[in-house]
Amino acid sequence: MNVDVDGIGNVSGTLVVPVMENACEVSSLNLTEVADGLVETISHVIENGDFKGKAGSSLTIHSTAGKAILVGLGKEKDLDTDAIRNAGASLVSGRGKQHGKEFTARLAGLSSEHAAAYIEGAILRDYDYDQYKSKDDDDDDDGELSLHAQVDDVAGVAAAAGLSAQVATGVHLARDLGNAPPNDLYPMAYAEKAIKWAEGKNNATVTVIEYEEALKLGMGGLCAVGMGSDRKPCMVIFELNSDAGEQPPVIVGKGITFDTGGISIKPSASMDEMKYDMHGSATVFGLMQALWASGHAGRVVGISCMAENMPASNAQRPGDVITTMSGKTVEVLNTDAEGRLVLSDGLHKASQYNPEFIIDLATLTGAVVIALGHEATGMWCNDDDLAERLKNSGNACGELIWPMPLLPAFEKDMKDSKIADLRNLGGTRWGGSNTAAAYLKQFVGTTGEGDDEKQIPWAHLDIAGTAWGAKTNKMVAHGATGIHVRALHHLLTQK
Ligand code: BES
Ligand code: MN
Ligand code: ZN
Repeated sequence: MNVDVDGIGNVSGTLVVPVMENACEVSSLNLTEVADGLVETISHVIENGDFKGKAGSSLTIHSTAGKAILVGLGKEKDLDTDAIRNAGASLVSGRGKQHGKEFTARLAGLSSEHAAAYIEGAILRDYDYDQYKSKDDDDDDDGELSLHAQVDDVAGVAAAAGLSAQVATGVHLARDLGNAPPNDLYPMAYAEKAIKWAEGKNNATVTVIEYEEALKLGMGGLCAVGMGSDRKPCMVIFELNSDAGEQPPVIVGKGITFDTGGISIKPSASMDEMKYDMHGSATVFGLMQALWASGHAGRVVGISCMAENMPASNAQRPGDVITTMSGKTVEVLNTDAEGRLVLSDGLHKASQYNPEFIIDLATLTGAVVIALGHEATGMWCNDDDLAERLKNSGNACGELIWPMPLLPAFEKDMKDSKIADLRNLGGTRWGGSNTAAAYLKQFVGTTGEGDDEKQIPWAHLDIAGTAWGAKTNKMVAHGATGIHVRALHHLLTQK
């Protein structure tokens, strides 16, 4: 989408007029420099009471002097950033052929923050995953959308819209990765994309730990999950601005390019959805792109744990005991609880960077979808300050992050193996997301010694419900959402 930001001026293409429910009079609409014939028709509609500005409503007006879309924003007192971001998104999702590809949005009168959120919603929603569709010769749906935003605070809104566009390149990249079919996006294919991404960027590096090396390094969790596939596992490490700072934030992603469940195989209904099981790693990659595109100067490390979970004669079995890179042994009681196994090594590796904090993202459990539906990501965190910052970043971006409990009882449950240090399955099915988080906590390193010993601040985000398919997420039509590229970008770039 091409976006430009200016003051009130000429109208090109379809005029977009936001209408507040409690101020639904023609005099309150900013219709200067709109063709007389169109003003007349809009006035007629409003004065007749045919459009009341209710939230989510819209009306297309055709006049001999041009076209307009009236966009209802609801009552002014209820208007928040999320609502207006959704309104911007619905300009893109609700448009028809009749509206053309060019829009002039009269956002003057809205606060700068709201005007920017409207533009952000439109930019985020302007995404299709159509790489695998044959192109129709007479398909006139090609060509980019243009949005001319007319606002009061031109400099402020232009800066915000510019940042939104930069960050959106990361959101859209994360969606591309999440939507990619698993026959084309396997662990080393992800690694190759990452290497290609870093080429020519002088402040970005990508290091790939391939299977053979991972075996030598003792990454027993990653290797056990991935060994049953012909497409072997790997760990992909991104680093941005490696010279800037001693203590980088480290972001770790679960990257199961397809999760059949392994020998503990899943039922076949909807199994195709398990191509999204790498969305944690998609968010890591997308976040790196968003930070790079927005010129972030701080040091950030991203670690993606890539594997394909397949049943095979060389796959791991329930009953196996594996040794992770940390030295801790794990009794594998269910090969479908594989995300936590690859993350065992990812979190251990992350702890070696002397990190300021570690955040992992994973489509880890079906149980978190039972608990929170598609509305919020579950967060388990060992540090109140980090938890608060994550929650606030989620709220600021309309990507809700909800606190969940890290209780000692769940840790005890996961340590209750007769033959190994840990088990990868809770003793019962209750609280399955909590036991998974408690397991992960065992692999987060510590700093200091003796009485000063303290675990590295860490948060685990279970994105199984938010990574795709959320009907209430207006930023996306369907498929991968690119969840938390924006919230984490916000967190890492806030002073
Ligand atoms: N990738 C799944 C979790 C998942 C389920 C994500 C549904 C999105 C939608 C994960 O690897 C898994 O299979 N988890 C099991 C854990 C169980 C075996 C302890 C689950 O949630 O059933
Ligand atoms: Mn699984
Ligand atoms: Zn999985």
